[in-house]
Amino acid sequence: MRVLGIESSCDETGVAVYDSDRGLRAHALYSQVELHAEYGGVVPELASRDHVRKLLPLIRQTLAESGMSLDEIDGVAYTAGPGLVGALLVGAGVARALAWALEVPAVGVHHMEGHLLAPLMRIEGGTTMQAPPAPPFVALLVSGGHTQLVHVEAIGRYRLLGETLDDAAGEAFDKTAKLMGLPYPGGPQLARLAGAGRSGTFRFARPMTDRPGLDFSFSGLKTQVLLAWQRSDGSDATRADVARGFEEAVVETLVIKCLRAVEAAGVDTVVVAGGVGANLRLRAALDEAMARRGGRACFPPPALCTDNGAMIAFAGALRLGAGEHADAAVRVQPRWDM
Ligand code: KG4
Ligand code: ZN
Repeated sequence: MRVLGIESSCDETGVAVYDSDRGLRAHALYSQVELHAEYGGVVPELASRDHVRKLLPLIRQTLAESGMSLDEIDGVAYTAGPGLVGALLVGAGVARALAWALEVPAVGVHHMEGHLLAPLMRIEGGTTMQAPPAPPFVALLVSGGHTQLVHVEAIGRYRLLGETLDDAAGEAFDKTAKLMGLPYPGGPQLARLAGAGRSGTFRFARPMTDRPGLDFSFSGLKTQVLLAWQRSDGSDATRADVARGFEEAVVETLVIKCLRAVEAAGVDTVVVAGGVGANLRLRAALDEAMARRGGRACFPPPALCTDNGAMIAFAGALRLGAGEHADAAVRVQPRWDM
């Protein structure tokens, strides 16, 4: 089955074609980051308008790259939530209209299920060395809006083990970056800066690791970082050291909780998904920690950690392949528990 996937929940327009027999055929992404940069955050109305502008050209581009024509598509998948309602409606409207015109089924996908299943997709000609993991495993979902540990018992059977009580991990990266005067979007910039910092110069708390449980709390960390930064000499070198201390605190906290979660769930694999999964220090630390206990950590390629259409096409292919699709109504759910 060949599925066209559309992601438009926030500030990236993503389109992909996933073939259940051959894997990912093509994917294209347009980021609105520059559009929103001057406002220091995503402006919902501008995001919707830009999705309108970019979606059809991206669909055309993706089909051309996949070497397929529109009438070879067997189904359409789109992000139905959670996300910005106007942005979601653009993707849902285009997806539903295409499916109707092509007389193929369409399915709305949960954005976080897309992230969660991304590490399982097959990438044609890809460089992934490991075989894709199969359930059961523990998934660490770390994005700008979510930080969750999920026991994936089977595809479609998810049990929440723990989640953040306040800021998401990506949100902590973004807010901390802003407090330290880094330009929007701060998370990846802070990570880059941390790479130039010295380990151990600043040590911040590993929140909620001193007590049992699998929940997280990241909001206090940014205050600690702000205080340290304000009291420092304010030099570039110090900024990098503070960034390094922050990144180490987040990464170590995530690793400690992942190890607890695989223990609790009785599995030996942890799968990481969501934008923070692109963080190189997290990837290395979790790899090492899981290898030490005889298990493994799996990550999608960094480009498929952040928002993209491929994960939606893949999750949609699984759902459509299982016979699931909804009636032709254009419906989205800005708030939606997985
Ligand atoms: O999954 P995603 O693309 O969008 C959401 O659904 O939220 O995740 C975006 C988040 C942002 O908070 C961004 O700062 C963070 O992922 N992020 C990173 C890195 N790359 C993206 N955080 C830490 N290190 C990175 N390299
Ligand atoms: Zn996302």
